[in-house]
Amino acid sequence: MTSDVTHSLFYMLLARDRATAIHSRNVAKYAMTIGVALGLDSEDMKELYIAALLHDCGKVALPDKLLKTSRSYTRWEKQMMQQHVVIAKKLLVNLGFPKKIIDGIYYHHERYDGMGYVEGLRGESIPLFARIIAIADVFDALTSKRPYRDPLSIQQAIDVLKESKGQFDEELLDIFLRYINKSYVDTVKNI
Ligand SMILES: [Fe+2]
Repeated sequence: MTSDVTHSLFYMLLARDRATAIHSRNVAKYAMTIGVALGLDSEDMKELYIAALLHDCGKVALPDKLLKTSRSYTRWEKQMMQQHVVIAKKLLVNLGFPKKIIDGIYYHHERYDGMGYVEGLRGESIPLFARIIAIADVFDALTSKRPYRDPLSIQQAIDVLKESKGQFDEELLDIFLRYINKSYVDTVKNI
């Protein structure tokens, strides 16, 4: 059941906001790389994939002026944007998704140093899937074109990730960076 609903939700996101859907697909691929490196079993790999693919599915409920703007957000807009994880949680709880997937999505904007949202969790109290998705999410965002900026080069993105180490689980970040090079990123992005 979960995989049919996962695909339906993904295609809904694709129809609503293509850029977010493509980003989500990339994040799922990067998350798989970290999952394999960690030796996760097949059930965990499947759940991690679903969590990464749907990590931003709550954005379907946000207005275009938030999703497709090229300017920075006002304080109010930022708060509204942050609701995407709350919306996703409500949606997926109602659809009967497993807790591990929902937690991976709900907490993917937490930071290892406790400065993230939605609850300000820190360290390993942040669920593993969320810590993995956080790294994959930021790396793909940095290396993708945004309405307000050009993509960073792979090296620039690696430097940003290294400089913001407090934000991420260092062990997972080190694992991820071992795999990052141009041909791998091109494969993920299908360039
Ligand atoms: Fe997000």
